[in-house]
Amino acid sequence: MNKTIQVKDKTFAVSIPEERIMAEVRRVAAEINRDYAGQNPIFLAVLNGSFIFAADLLREVTLPCEISFVRLASYEGMGSTGEIREIMGLSVDVTGRPVIIVEDIVDTGLTMAHMLETLKRHNPGSIDICTLLLKPGKLQVNLDIRYCAMQIPNDFIVGYGLDYDGFGRNTKDIYTLCS
Ligand code: IMP
Ligand code: MG
Repeated sequence: MNKTIQVKDKTFAVSIPEERIMAEVRRVAAEINRDYAGQNPIFLAVLNGSFIFAADLLREVTLPCEISFVRLASYEGMGSTGEIREIMGLSVDVTGRPVIIVEDIVDTGLTMAHMLETLKRHNPGSIDICTLLLKPGKLQVNLDIRYCAMQIPNDFIVGYGLDYDGFGRNTKDIYTLCS
């Protein structure tokens, strides 16, 4: 039986151990280092969920780069509301710059679609998506995701930045909800 944790009223079991996460983060960073050689990208991390991924990813990126943060929210409890609120907008000038969006997880894809739409209005030179996790079975929109560390089934997960109702972000492993 995998290690379990309790987050509020729910039990979760380890599904992706720290070693695997870090190996995939390093792989994605190496792809970015290769693809963006000679460029100075701006990483745009989507808070809150991506804060740990962004911190680990950026430390593996060897390019001269910047990072900035935006904050969006669509989830309430364990389901996407489909309605995305922008809580903290873009604070850097991305005009003409290569932008890499850093996201914790693409689920329905609605948050990312909204993010792309908003970002395009600021005329960046290019946009790529870099997500830690993707649930291909939940995707509702057509998204071109260039960098994806791991694909997972439709289950609800917590840890490594991802939360259940605000809790459970502060773990090194990723955990899946026990049925
Ligand atoms: P989307 O708009 O449905 O793609 O949802 C994206 C956002 O929902 C992510 O940035 C997460 O913050 C959150 N989310 C989606 N799936 C999960 C999950 O399994 N656990 C925790 N948060 C999730
Ligand atoms: Mg998120």
